[in-house]
Amino acid sequence: MVAPVAAQLHEVMGEVRARTLKLVAHLDEDQLTAVHSPIMSPLAWDLGHVAAYEDLWLNHRLAGQELLRPGLAELYDAFETPRAVRGDLEFLRGAELLAYLDDVRARSLEAPVRDGGELHELVIRHELQHTETMLQAMRLAGLEPPAFAGPAGVAGSGLELVEVPGGAATIGAGPEGFSYDNERPRHVVELPAFSIGRVPVTGADWTAFAEEGGYSRPELWTPAGWEWARDVSPRMGAPDAPIVHVSWFEADAFARFHGARLPSEQEWEKAALAGLLEGTYEVWEWTASEFSAYAGFVAHPYREYSEVFFDKGYRVLRGGSCATHERIASPHFRNWDLPQRRQLFAGLRIAR
Ligand code: AVJ
Ligand code: FE
Repeated sequence: MVAPVAAQLHEVMGEVRARTLKLVAHLDEDQLTAVHSPIMSPLAWDLGHVAAYEDLWLNHRLAGQELLRPGLAELYDAFETPRAVRGDLEFLRGAELLAYLDDVRARSLEAPVRDGGELHELVIRHELQHTETMLQAMRLAGLEPPAFAGPAGVAGSGLELVEVPGGAATIGAGPEGFSYDNERPRHVVELPAFSIGRVPVTGADWTAFAEEGGYSRPELWTPAGWEWARDVSPRMGAPDAPIVHVSWFEADAFARFHGARLPSEQEWEKAALAGLLEGTYEVWEWTASEFSAYAGFVAHPYREYSEVFFDKGYRVLRGGSCATHERIASPHFRNWDLPQRRQLFAGLRIAR
């Protein structure tokens, strides 16, 4: 008899896998193995990596088994094999790839469930994170699944601000339940009063910025942002929906154009927890904050999840997007990427 917690986790693992495979069901073998962008993996690499991660954490580390295919470990290690070189590799494809996913899964269903299923949850969320990455790659290639919709519309403009009184804010995930290492420990910060957009900046707001010279006024941009802006075309978006696929550089310049700034991640979390924000979880929202450790951070269960990215110039994004599964959408979740990146389903909210 499988314990109820295990049965529930196995059911979720099955649902998540069905969703993953459905997201790529419309693609042919060439589309699955092609390099669609130098900053993204081939989709088949992501799928093999998802299986390898599951095998590593559930079957090797937790159950103490040998890896199913030890020869694949290096190929599917994100650090040994950076995105830029993944297209040249003999990653699994076709029937062999599907068999690897299935064979790993058959073993995983025998693995013990420990600590409330913490590693199972890590593996489930890892797959959900990679499906968002895969959707980014599909979007860059114009290969989104037929049912995929962009961000839902919002009423109003991202220039309407709501007031948040000064005072204490409780930041981060509590000790109970699953959370990523970088969300802990929970702590209190004092924040001065600020105001923040009721809704994310919309496509209409963005068009006005572009048409009024936002992309051609160096004083609105950081020096690195201005360098970056020389090579890009202005972003456009549906007028009544959050603008999406903008970089941190663009988001920062947009805020300055309006005499505003990006919120810090603490301001975002305080306003989100107070229920003051509308239109959350449609687009990731760039914040002014650099990705770094909360005081008292402890890497768990491995340094390469968060720690190696701290203090390297990554910017924090908060919320979630139309490509984020609800299981991983949380007001404490900290996403991160480089300031020049546009492939994320990311927009912004302004603050003052
Ligand atoms: C949290 C989305 C930045 O994709 O680099 C996937 C998630 N970590 N595999 C990433 C992740 C390991 C991570 N992000
Ligand atoms: Fe990964």
